[in-house]
Amino acid sequence: MRRYVFAGNWKMHKTVSEAVALARALREGLDKEATPHEVVVMPPFTALPAVGEALKGSPIAMGAQNMYWEREGAFTAEISPVMLRDVGCTYVILGHSERRHIFDETDEGVGKKSRAAFDHGLTPMVCVGETLTERESSRTLEVVERQVERALRPLQSEEVASMVVSYEPVWAIGTGRVATPNQAEEVQAFLRRRIARSHGDDAAEAVRILYGGSVNPGNISGIMVQADVDGVLVGGASLKADSFLQIVNYR
Ligand code: PGA
Repeated sequence: MRRYVFAGNWKMHKTVSEAVALARALREGLDKEATPHEVVVMPPFTALPAVGEALKGSPIAMGAQNMYWEREGAFTAEISPVMLRDVGCTYVILGHSERRHIFDETDEGVGKKSRAAFDHGLTPMVCVGETLTERESSRTLEVVERQVERALRPLQSEEVASMVVSYEPVWAIGTGRVATPNQAEEVQAFLRRRIARSHGDDAAEAVRILYGGSVNPGNISGIMVQADVDGVLVGGASLKADSFLQIVNYR
């Protein structure tokens, strides 16, 4: 059975004690209703060590929201993949649209980070997605193709097979405006075909492609029925245990 991924990106929310409380509540909730799928939380950097402790021995995995590609050095304020492994991360989000659009991250940088993630034992969750202007000028597929091609270029097929790609239309993030199932499926199917061309059919079949953008307990089942959706990356609705658990346990 295919293991879907339910990831919660907490963004710049939660102090350490708030983050630990949420992690504990999720742990308790999942104990009650076990899920066959993979659940991942992405707290802010400051809370990673404490959340890592709180989740020890639980089935919930932890990831970071970003990283730099070097292992150490004079890179003020950056965090390395080695440091993330050290506090218990197994995943890392790369190229989130907020990183691309607010902090000017480039496609090439995302590629370097993907390479570095695998070099240090982290699984990258690479985000791609078009802005509203790009969608309205019919450039969606061209944009996501460029983003995914450059992010995956430094990777071997076996690596791509084990990673996660998340399609997150920028106009759907935090706006309450979710992509229709057909809009999401069109892009996800296109991404899978594109990955088959660059890294082969096996990698394209195995790579898990998530949808992200205003996912909530009310729309999760409509999203998950799409053939090429292998899970979701959730922002706002992952900040409360009950709404995230309702998403994870969707029917
Ligand atoms: P949202 O964020 O669920 O709040 O729209 C999704 C994301 O940015 O990962």
